[in-house]
Amino acid sequence: MSPAMLAMTDGEANDVLHDNDDNDESLYQKGVRHLCEKPISKVPGKYILPIEERPLPTKPNSGRAPLISLPVVDFSELMSPSGRSATLVSLAKACENYGFFQLVNHGIPSGVIAGMIDGSTRFFEQPYEERAKYMSSDMTSPVRCGTSFNQSKDRVFCWRDFLKLTCRPMAQVLPHWPHSPADFREVASTYAQETNRLFLELMEAVLQSLGLKPRPLEGEGGSIMKQFEEGSQLMVVNCYPPCPEPDLTLGMPPHSDYGFLTLLLQDQVQGLQIQHREDWVTVEPIHGSFIVNVGDHLEIFSNGRYKSVLHRVLVNATRSRMSVATLHSLPYSCTIRPPPELVDEANPRRYMDTDFASFLKYISSCEPKKKNFLESRKLVT
Ligand code: OGA
Ligand code: NI
Repeated sequence: MSPAMLAMTDGEANDVLHDNDDNDESLYQKGVRHLCEKPISKVPGKYILPIEERPLPTKPNSGRAPLISLPVVDFSELMSPSGRSATLVSLAKACENYGFFQLVNHGIPSGVIAGMIDGSTRFFEQPYEERAKYMSSDMTSPVRCGTSFNQSKDRVFCWRDFLKLTCRPMAQVLPHWPHSPADFREVASTYAQETNRLFLELMEAVLQSLGLKPRPLEGEGGSIMKQFEEGSQLMVVNCYPPCPEPDLTLGMPPHSDYGFLTLLLQDQVQGLQIQHREDWVTVEPIHGSFIVNVGDHLEIFSNGRYKSVLHRVLVNATRSRMSVATLHSLPYSCTIRPPPELVDEANPRRYMDTDFASFLKYISSCEPKKKNFLESRKLVT
């Protein structure tokens, strides 16, 4: 995705299989929706992964990936004086053992959520020319449409189109956001504000669950929460059209997200898989809930205690799928490092200090043999 998308696919085996399909690079650059405007019955070679990277398990007799019920965190319990401490314990366990949880009773009105999914669906239903207005390879642009994962580098493309919106400071970025469909700015900015508010509450709980004081008293040191209030937020709207041969490709390759937390909204169509105990497991959507996951910055900040876990997206033959991810972090200018309370002799520092510039450098150099950005920040011990 965004800055968030890390692991890159490497499709050496591909060209041999389907070289005669691959004569229209500029068509693929226009995205999967555009490609599928004329019905197609085969996946072009450009999207076909080498066998070992395809979604089906390659171990004999292992069948389809199992479904997983992620740990559930009840936000209303987290906000209640009687439920908070027990919920902080479940939150900590989920971040340590899964890197993911489902957030229920989050308090964002269902109309805001339905409006976002509906507005996004209508955005992608527009003619290609509407999306083309926002296509750009400039990573710093506040609005960007594109396809695949890192479309200027990927040899094999993913079956995904996206719209990425920088969300803060809202007053500055909003005039750049798409003005068609007519209500898009309104639904998307309301959604961005609501998810940011939810992120701040969750982040305060995460800091507390790590034994930190999110809002120390006057004279006790700086407030970390103040920095998060001024933090960055990137919204990624993902569109995965139906795919004629879903076993040959992926909607998104294995990657981790770069920020502190990602709040993911998905529609009713399954597709997200996470890596759990070395296997790929499919996450079952719970209607109206958010999937929340730990990003690289939180793994670095927690000095390895909370895990940023690889995940990927499957596509399917019959149903189009939409998802909206919001990635939240500190301001782009901040250095991410663990606070002194989380480092001692028993827990020496595991990662180098990290800033946004080092991340951008990583994705533009894109060393293909490194699994992800986090890996590249590890201190050798
Ligand atoms: C992402 C992501 C998952 C999905 O946008 O980073 O992992 O289900 N999305 O679309
Ligand atoms: Ni992701």
